[in-house]
Amino acid sequence: MRKQQIEAYLNGLIPEKGLLYDAMRYSLLGGGKRLRPQLAMMAAEALGGTETDALCYGAALECIHTYSLIHDDLPCMDDDDLRRGRPTLHKQFDEATAVLAGDGLLTLAFSIAARAPLSSDRNLAAVTVLSDAAGAYGMVQGQMLDMTLSAESPTEDILEMYRFKTGALLRAAVALGCIAAGGKGDELEAFSQNLGVAFQLQDDILDVVGDEKVLGKPIQSDSKNDKHTVISVIGIEKAREWVHKYTDLAIESIAFLGEKGTALSALAKGLVEREM
Ligand code: IPE
Ligand code: IPE
Ligand code: MG
Ligand code: MG
Ligand code: MG
Repeated sequence: MRKQQIEAYLNGLIPEKGLLYDAMRYSLLGGGKRLRPQLAMMAAEALGGTETDALCYGAALECIHTYSLIHDDLPCMDDDDLRRGRPTLHKQFDEATAVLAGDGLLTLAFSIAARAPLSSDRNLAAVTVLSDAAGAYGMVQGQMLDMTLSAESPTEDILEMYRFKTGALLRAAVALGCIAAGGKGDELEAFSQNLGVAFQLQDDILDVVGDEKVLGKPIQSDSKNDKHTVISVIGIEKAREWVHKYTDLAIESIAFLGEKGTALSALAKGLVEREM
């Protein structure tokens, strides 16, 4: 139900005709777990708001996330050919179209949040969260660190890179839900911070031991690109333990929500065993 609502909302965002719009639709509507909008909706409900109020902010964030994947797959970044079970955008179209479709999705996000049918105070807070999380103090900084960490970088530096490149957008998802519910945005920050680290650890594990068909993206992308991940330092088994450790920390941090935290806790638990 929640996922259907997200798909329907995303489907209505971009016109159906035109090269740029075809490319944006190809990536945005081509699968994906929709984790970030779901988190936004669950966080809103956990704080006493409604899932529907958080839907537009969550959809805006999904546009930013999709843009980050399009650019992440480019030859100058991870140079990957498969995404969400289909050829990456630059393979299906071309590199220039992929760059521009990414730019289009990124900027569309701010327009969606600014025009959302919530109060202008909430919309302003949402746009601020989205831009901080997406940009040079968030995901983009993380992608820069990802490209520049060396084999000598200590584990703490790798975890810090995870907090930026992946954590920033997951923190934003939860913060947007809190804002949609009338909160400040930082109410569930310990939850999203720890979930972000667990999520990227699992992503790196799946890059080594995952099944490309299930995952919908290539495995061994990190080793192909000489990426320095936590796996290369501590190994798969220890990394699996860390996924549990950070997930437990996330779940413990929302104990104060009681019953209202059930959906968020269940989602976090489900991600530990994810294969895609
Ligand atoms: C992939 O994110 C990129 C990372 C931050 C690890 P997801 O695993 O959420 O990708 P989709 O949206 O389901 O395709
Ligand atoms: C990318 O991390 C996170 C982004 C900000 C896009 P990865 O490069 O490991 O993500 P995947 O494995 O390609 O999805
Ligand atoms: Mg990458
Ligand atoms: Mg990648
Ligand atoms: Mg990866």
